[in-house]
Amino acid sequence: MEEMRIDYSKYRLETAKKCLSASKTSFATGEMDFSLNRSYYAIFNALRAVTILDRFDSKKHKGVISYFNRYYVGTGIFPSNTSKLVESAFNLRSSADYEDFYLASRRDAQQQIDNAEGIINMIEPYLAKRWAEIIEEEKLPMSAIFTRTSTRQFEPRPVESKYIIKILRAAMAAPSACNQQPWEFWVTDDKEIIARLSQVSPYAGPVNNAPVVIVPCYRTEGLPVAQMAEIDMAICTENILLEAEELGLGAVMIGIAPLPERMEAVGEILHLPANFKAFTIIPVGWPVNKRPQEDRYEPAKIHTI
Ligand SMILES: Cc1cc2nc3c(=O)[nH]c(=O)nc-3n(C[C@H](O)[C@H](O)[C@H](O)COP(=O)(O)O)c2cc1C
Repeated sequence: MEEMRIDYSKYRLETAKKCLSASKTSFATGEMDFSLNRSYYAIFNALRAVTILDRFDSKKHKGVISYFNRYYVGTGIFPSNTSKLVESAFNLRSSADYEDFYLASRRDAQQQIDNAEGIINMIEPYLAKRWAEIIEEEKLPMSAIFTRTSTRQFEPRPVESKYIIKILRAAMAAPSACNQQPWEFWVTDDKEIIARLSQVSPYAGPVNNAPVVIVPCYRTEGLPVAQMAEIDMAICTENILLEAEELGLGAVMIGIAPLPERMEAVGEILHLPANFKAFTIIPVGWPVNKRPQEDRYEPAKIHTI
């Protein structure tokens, strides 16, 4: 779908134009109900030409319309009266298609042809701009950020230590407040310890089938900005997850900090010194199934001021 988005979008815009042309033909031959139907489909396909660019797709008309209203009208990309125009096209087309003995008027049919033409003319330059932007975006390199997913099922084969060292090198490359680097790492392939770690939370199950487990911990003493230590650890954890991905390995962050009982349970299992706290548990291994990353990009979450 990724590279195909633009092709689908172009196809839908062409379909919108074909529907508009069919609407005009029906109008000319006096078939106002067909004309209303085709005008609506011209609009619907124009909307779908836009929404597919966000990888949003639905065959349900209401689904497409509400997505469009929320992300394209509600955000000011298209003018606010667009929602009303789409709604009136939808309602008239429903009457024309489903109401027995419905008499579609010439005036309504002409109005809807004008609306459909207006919407297509409004959407077409926007699409041309987005297609060009997407072509440029797709030329940018794809980092592990865009392929990483949480892995919870691992192959039984071991992970050579060179991989773990590279992952920990990435961990220690993380930024930290005042460069305080509060981290130290407990690493184990001991089956019994791994089994115990998998019990420290109801969500720690994936730990149990990993060949190796990293437990990032942090010092509690001698830190210039101790309140920032867990933020540092979260960033360090992301580096671990991303480097694992780069190396073709899989990993998942198990939530431990800031919950004291989980942190203490991990501390006991690992016999952590009193001035260290466990931050998270990260099982690492060769993934059984690599799934594609879900696209969570939402244009509406960006506020341009
Ligand atoms: C703070 C935090 C705690 C998490 N805790 C757990 C956990 O205890 N068990 C687990 O299986 N996944 C855990 N995850 C992984 C999330 O479930 C996962 O990141 C989220 O569902 C998104 O999926 P993705 O990582 O594949 O993109 C945690 C992630 C974060 C950031």
